[in-house]
Amino acid sequence: MLSTRILQLTDLHVFQDPDARLRGIPTFQLLCDVVEHIKQSGEEFDFVVVTGDHTHDELQESYSAVRQVLSPWLDRLFQVPGNHDDRAVLRSVFSDRIAGQGDTQINFTFQAGNWLCLGLDTHVPSSVPGLIDAEQIAWAKEQVRSLKPDMIGLFLHHPPVNVGSEWMDIIGLTGKELLQSWFTEEPRIRFACCGHVHHEFQTRWNQTDILTTPSTGIQFSPRGSTPTFVADPPGYRIIELNPEGYTTRVIRLPETRFAPVI
Ligand SMILES: [Fe+2]
Repeated sequence: MLSTRILQLTDLHVFQDPDARLRGIPTFQLLCDVVEHIKQSGEEFDFVVVTGDHTHDELQESYSAVRQVLSPWLDRLFQVPGNHDDRAVLRSVFSDRIAGQGDTQINFTFQAGNWLCLGLDTHVPSSVPGLIDAEQIAWAKEQVRSLKPDMIGLFLHHPPVNVGSEWMDIIGLTGKELLQSWFTEEPRIRFACCGHVHHEFQTRWNQTDILTTPSTGIQFSPRGSTPTFVADPPGYRIIELNPEGYTTRVIRLPETRFAPVI
């Protein structure tokens, strides 16, 4: 097995109106900038994972716009919803990528060599905080039991730890202790890759690296007791899996085109 390359995009927050702005940030334009930057870089990917908040208004037209922008990667796209998602609408627009019906959970599984990657849905309708429950953990453990990977990577919207941002930790993941217990007992879980906090963060739980990734649109400050936005450029993450482990890096666009309105 040579390396497997994964592109993670997160927190797109696209609106139906392509010129609409979120706190002064034109999220659709910046998503297009990010995708253009990736194309120009010449990087190729085996998998593309979107870790939630595809849209801000959760409208079908907004998901269709996202689908159009992601069209180069539709054959390798995997998705989990964030708090700013509507499962039924997301599923209807990406019906060729997301199995199941209606607003049931959207989890995913793919394998790459001796790796297993799992997507875990933490969405709770009409709620900003997320939820992971014992049934999902049991499902994930069953995937591991049957597929017997050497290493495991997880993708989910809400980080399974506090990130030290007072206002973001309040709207974090209910049930994160269940995941933390799994990390403690299962050293094959090498990373849990997340969004939600709109900034880069990294910590470790047992053998598991907990990673968060900048939004393709608006950027949050890593600190503060109230929502604080910063004029950092948008970004994305590349993960490279290999038979012995993995490497990862966050890439930000070279310039900040728009400053947030505080
Ligand atoms: Fe978000």
